[in-house]
Amino acid sequence: MDSIKNQRTAEYLILALIIGIGTPVCVLWGNLDGQRLADKAYGVKAESKVAVKSNADMLVATPENIAKGQTLFQTNCTACHGEHADGKGPAAVALVPPPRDFTDANAKWTRSRTPEDIFKTVSEGSPGTAMPPFSASLSEEERWSLAHYIGTLPGVKH
Ligand code: HEC
Repeated sequence: MDSIKNQRTAEYLILALIIGIGTPVCVLWGNLDGQRLADKAYGVKAESKVAVKSNADMLVATPENIAKGQTLFQTNCTACHGEHADGKGPAAVALVPPPRDFTDANAKWTRSRTPEDIFKTVSEGSPGTAMPPFSASLSEEERWSLAHYIGTLPGVKH
């Protein structure tokens, strides 16, 4: 009788060990697999390749993306920067510092006037000023178009 009892106890112990070790291993394995599936489903690597490719296209100012930038400027920026890009939008009177006047070649800029820095300012905004970030509301391509359009204005010309 005793030996049967011991055998049972041993069986229970082995079972407990299998469950105790097996469960976390399975959970971990499942998570790893899930991560791989998610990577595949969302194509993380494929997507970043596309972004790099279109990035190079966006970096070049063309008549098309300049025109697109001008349209975007009229809908997103004129409240502050004015419809003539001279910093005289209806909201400008209330702002300190005032919105940048893109027609004034002598204006002192907070950041530099390279297309890259204009793209950065439009994306991130300018801390300590009313200049808001547009990375959530405008696509990367739209922000580059804006940078190219601003680059054609009399006070900026690249
Ligand atoms: C709510 C008002 C507001 C709106 C809307 C706005 N801006 Fe501005 N922007 C400002 C202010 C204020 C500054 C001045 C920041 C400073 O003095 O550095 C500024 C500065 C800038 C600068 C120059 C920063 C520098 O280095 O001096 C750029 C470029 C710019 N804005 C682009 C844009 C574009 C493009 C849009 C539309 C997509 C836009 N802004 C919309 C208020 C605004």
